[in-house]
Amino acid sequence: MKVFINKKIPETGTDMLKEAGLQIVWPDHENLSYEEWLNYCKNADAIVSIGAEFKYDRSFFDACPDIKAIALYSVGFDHVDIKEATHRGIPVGNTPDVLSKATSDVAFLLMQSVARRASYNFRKVKEGHWGAFDPLHALGQELYGKTLGIFGLGRIGYEMAEKSKKAFGMDIIYHNRHQNIQAEKELDAKYVSFDQLIERSDVLSVHASFTPEQEGLFNDYVFKRMKSNAIFINTARGGFHRQTDLYDALADGQIWGAGLDVTNPEPMSADDPILELSNVCVLPHIGSATVEARNGMARLAAGNIIAFSKGEKMPYCANPEVYSGQ
Ligand code: DGY
Repeated sequence: MKVFINKKIPETGTDMLKEAGLQIVWPDHENLSYEEWLNYCKNADAIVSIGAEFKYDRSFFDACPDIKAIALYSVGFDHVDIKEATHRGIPVGNTPDVLSKATSDVAFLLMQSVARRASYNFRKVKEGHWGAFDPLHALGQELYGKTLGIFGLGRIGYEMAEKSKKAFGMDIIYHNRHQNIQAEKELDAKYVSFDQLIERSDVLSVHASFTPEQEGLFNDYVFKRMKSNAIFINTARGGFHRQTDLYDALADGQIWGAGLDVTNPEPMSADDPILELSNVCVLPHIGSATVEARNGMARLAAGNIIAFSKGEKMPYCANPEVYSGQ
C-alpha cells in the first residue's frame, strides 16, 4: 500500500509505517502547490495529511478515486468534507487527546500574557522604551477568583478549565452541545446559555470543533455584550471570530484584550492592524507544537493507517459510521 505523506513528521510515526511494510511516498520538495499535492494524492492509496491549506472536498475525491483512507495529522477535521468521505466509504483518522495538554497550555499562556500585557511590554523593551517605574502605566489585571467561560468543553477545554481553577481558583462556566458531567463534578463547572457565557465571562476561551455554521460567531454583537474587562482567547479555529469586529472591540476598549493562536484569515498578514494594538498577543497556530504532542500525533496517525492496512477499524476516526456496513 502506497502512503503519501506531504511533510516530514516525527520518525516515531514513519518508523511504525516502515515496520508495518508500508511504502511511504514523500514529495520531492516542500510547499507543494495544489496541483502538485493533488498529483501525489492521485497516485497513493492512503494519505497522512499534514496542514489544512488544501481541502478534501468533493472535487478532491472526484480527482483521486483511488484514495482509500486519510489519516489527518490533527485533531480538527474542518478541512475535510466528512459527509462526502463517508459516502465514499473512506475513513478519516484524527489525533485527539495527545495534544490536549499542549493546546490548553497555549490557551493558559495567552490568558496570562494578555492579562499582564506581556507582548506590549516585551515590545517596549525591544524598542528601547524600558522607562522609569510608573505606578500607573501598563497595569495588568489579576485572574484570581475570576470567571472563566469555556465555549466547547471537550478534552482541551477541560484541561484549560482545570489549570485555571487550580492556578487562580477561577469559577468555571461553559456552553457546549452536551453537558460535561465530569467537569461539573470535578471542577464545579456550571452549564450556561450562550448569552450567559458571553455576559458573565471575565475570560472567554474558545475550544469547540469548528463547523461552517459557526463562522463569525464571535462578532461585533457578541463583543459589545462582553464585559469591558473581558479577555477573549481563541486556540480553536480562526473562523470562530470575525477579526475586523474583534479589532474594533479591542481598539474601542469594549473588551480588555485578546489572545489568539488562530486567526481569521490564517496565516495573518504581518501588516494586520490588530498586531499594532497593545492589548493582544498573537501566536502562529502553535497549540500542538511540543515534542511530546507531535510525537503522539505521529503515533496516532501511523496507527490509524496501519489499522486500515490490516482491514481493521482506525482507532481514532472522525467518521466511524464508515464502518457500520462491515
Ligand atoms: C489540530 O490538531 O487540529 C491543530 O489545530 C493543528 O491543526
